[in-house]
Order: sequence, then structure tokens, then C-alpha cells
Amino acid sequence: MSRSLEERVLSSVKPTAEETKRIESAVSTLLLKINDYASARLSSLRIEPLLVGSVSKGTFMRNPDVDIFIRFPASLPRKDLEKKGVEIGMAVLDEPFLKYAEHPYVRGKYKGIAIDLVPCYSISDSARKMSAVDRTPFHTEFINRYMNDLEKDQVRLLKQFFKGIGVYGAEARTHGFSGYLCELLILSYGSFIAVVEKGCGWTYRTVIVPPHAKLGEKLKETDSCLIVPDPVDNERNVAAALEKDSFALAVLAFRQYSARPGLNFFFPGKVRRRSLSEIRKYIEESGHGLVVLRLPRPDIIDDNLYPQISKAVKNLTRFLEEYGFEVNRTQAAADTEVRFAFEMKHRNHPSMWLREGPYGWSPNSVNFIEKHRKNGADVFISDGRLYSETGREFRTPVELLSKMIGSVSLGADIDGLKKKIIIESDSEAVTIENLEVLSGLLFHTFPWERDAS
Ligand code: CTP
Ligand code: MG
Repeated sequence: MSRSLEERVLSSVKPTAEETKRIESAVSTLLLKINDYASARLSSLRIEPLLVGSVSKGTFMRNPDVDIFIRFPASLPRKDLEKKGVEIGMAVLDEPFLKYAEHPYVRGKYKGIAIDLVPCYSISDSARKMSAVDRTPFHTEFINRYMNDLEKDQVRLLKQFFKGIGVYGAEARTHGFSGYLCELLILSYGSFIAVVEKGCGWTYRTVIVPPHAKLGEKLKETDSCLIVPDPVDNERNVAAALEKDSFALAVLAFRQYSARPGLNFFFPGKVRRRSLSEIRKYIEESGHGLVVLRLPRPDIIDDNLYPQISKAVKNLTRFLEEYGFEVNRTQAAADTEVRFAFEMKHRNHPSMWLREGPYGWSPNSVNFIEKHRKNGADVFISDGRLYSETGREFRTPVELLSKMIGSVSLGADIDGLKKKIIIESDSEAVTIENLEVLSGLLFHTFPWERDAS
């Protein structure tokens, strides 16, 4: 059963021999073109273009982004590295545009294939890197030396499994499993199904030491869900970007998959949008409140936007709760607008609320009593702690946010658009435009529970 399932997945994600040949031939002419440009225009500089990433390792999927590095001499000042790198990219690629990671690189096309051209330093010891991408060529060398073709297909299965459940990629939007991490997991365990089986038993701070790696001293103390030393730099955790939510979802998916394997894990259907009346009915019956904030999407790339979205949700939740409006669940979405949706524990809020204070024996206990008595509150002890029953300054979350949102930090670019934020609550928030974010907030399904697409 699972054997033919794996074959079916592979047959739709593995590039055909024809596609592989087309990519390889485009890459080799592009490398020549880069060299030609450099010797004609930058003759005093010795550069070296290099194919890296999944195409160089034979672990790429259909329609890949090809990663090409341009290695510059280590003596070149960083500013010049960036300038020259961008200059070459703009000259050799079709439809080029500038992107920013730790430093700028160029994304474009060559013979219809998507290419990322990234400048980096040429270094000989991978543990002595100067910029974050300098290790990457060593990854290519390592994988090509130790991984066989059968294992490369197993990497493709694992990548697709993680893509399906939404945890593939280390970038800020997902905080999941990078391609290189997938490769090291396959090298460590041997096959996709072995990763699934072992993964069912992963717990917080699981350590996996891949072949030819050892656990660096610093990593022994690191606080991460998963700790996987990089064989080319034992002090670096390859799973450093993996966050708790993605890790938890992966372990859960492994467990469900080993009980009931299916295509639905690899190719789940879309989230079903609920109808307006379904959502209204839920709100009516649950007694929970609803708050939606929306604003135009700032004109920045995903890698900059998503960390701000997480920060905004976290800070808004903390702010609401500081003022006695308890939050049940949150959901964010970004398309042409950014939306933050909050399900509030209560729809109607009494005019008084209970504030938790310090323990009676803590240093600030007397302060707490004086401060709250001054505001006319009733103060008492329960289970060793002080509590005050205080009148609300703001009667509803909307009133609070409308007046005070200026004091909440939502991330630099979102803060710049604060004046454009529209706040909606309860039935007024149940609109066609908010359907997607509300469906996700109120009717959560795990990806594999949706019908396979
Ligand atoms: N890389 C890394 N750590 C990351 C992201 C990337 O070390 N968090 C390095 C890896 O050596 C990787 C290369 O950068 O091979 C290219 O990154 P990316 O394109 O994201 O990964 P690929 O391995 O090419 O996988 P794919 O493109 O198939 O997703
Ligand atoms: Mg890549």
C-alpha cells in the first residue's frame, strides 16, 4: 500500500529526465555567461560562479528555483561584494529584480527557468564563515559525497510531505523544515518512512546527529524543538528556524500518517470557506466575541511582513488581556489587505473586572493595594494572591483599541499604517471580505483532514 503511494507522489513531484536535462544545460550556459561578463567588465576581480541548492544536490522538485552563488575574494569589502553581485545579476538575467536576505541578491529568469543569483565570499573553512550564505557550497559538497540517488528521491517525498502539511521552508512565513534539514533527516534515518516512524517519537529538544557530524558544545545548551548539528559546522543548528507550531504539527502528522497513510498528507485540499450564515450562527450560539482589524498590506516582501504579523498578533493579544479582555484564539491573513482576527472569550463584558495581583509576600504587594484602592477597587486575597475587582475604563475591546492602539507596537511597517486600521466587531465583522480569516479562526482543520486535491 504505502509503496505504491510513495511511487504516486514521486511521479508527480520528481522532475522528468527531460526537465532535468533542460535545467542542466541552461545552468551550464548561464555559468559561462557570468564568467564572460566578469572577464569583460570586472577584469580586476577573480570571481567564481557556482551552482548550489537543491539543483546542485539532485534533490530538487519540479519547476525549481535554481540557486547560483557568485563567490568573491575574501579581501573584497562587503559593500563592493553587494554592488558587484547585483550588477552581474541585473546584466545576465531576464526580468531581474532585487531581493533582500542578509544582503541583496537578484532573482530573475534564464531560458524560462527561475534563478536566484546570490553573491558570497570564497572561504576554505566552513566553520569560519563571513556571511550567512558562505556555508552553502559546503552543503552541496557534503550531500553529493554522502547521498545516493535512492535517498535523493526519499528527500523529495519528505519535502512534499512537509509542503503538504504547510511546514516546508525555514523562511519567516513558515518557520519550518528547510531543504537541507530534509536531506540530513534522510541521511540520518535512511528513508521517508523511517523519518515518519522516528518522528512519531520526537519530543521537545530532540537531538539528531547526522552521519559525519558531531554535537557542538554550544548546541548542547541550545533551546530548540529540534537540534541537528550541521556536519559542515558542528556549532550550527540546522533546525534553528523551526518553531514550536511547525514542529508540533509535523509530529502530529507523522503519527496520523503512520496510522492512515494517504495522498491527503502530500496534496491536501484548500481550506473550506464557511458561509456567512454558518459563521453568524456560530457567533450567536457560542457567546464568544469577535474582533477583526484590517489595513492595507504594507509594500514589503513576505520575509519582512510575516515577522511583523506575528509580533502584532502577540502584542495585541497581550494588550487586550492587560485590560481584562480575554482572548480565546487568533488568526492572521495577508493578501492585498492584512487582517488580524481575535475570538474573545466573552461577547458582553461586565462593567467590573478581576485583576490578578502579586502574592501577599512579594515586595510590591502593598503598592498593589494602595494603587487599586485609590481607584475605588475592592482588594482581597485568594490562594495567597491579591486580586482587585476594578471598574473598567474601556467597556469593549473596540473602544479600547480605537483609543489606545497608538501605544501598541505592531512592527515598523504596520505601525506606519496605523491610521488606516479599521476595527470591526461581532456581527459587523462577519463580511465576505473577512470570510477566509474567520473560517480559519473558528473552524480549524488540519491540512490532511481536508480532501486530497
Ligand atoms: N540554506 C541553509 N539554511 C537555510 C536555508 C538555506 O543552509 N535556512 C542553504 C542550503 O545549503 C540550501 C541553500 O541555502 O541548499 C539554498 O536554499 P533553498 O533554496 O532554500 O533550499 P534548497 O536546498 O535549494 O531546497 P529547495 O529549493 O528544493 O526548497
Ligand atoms: Mg533552492
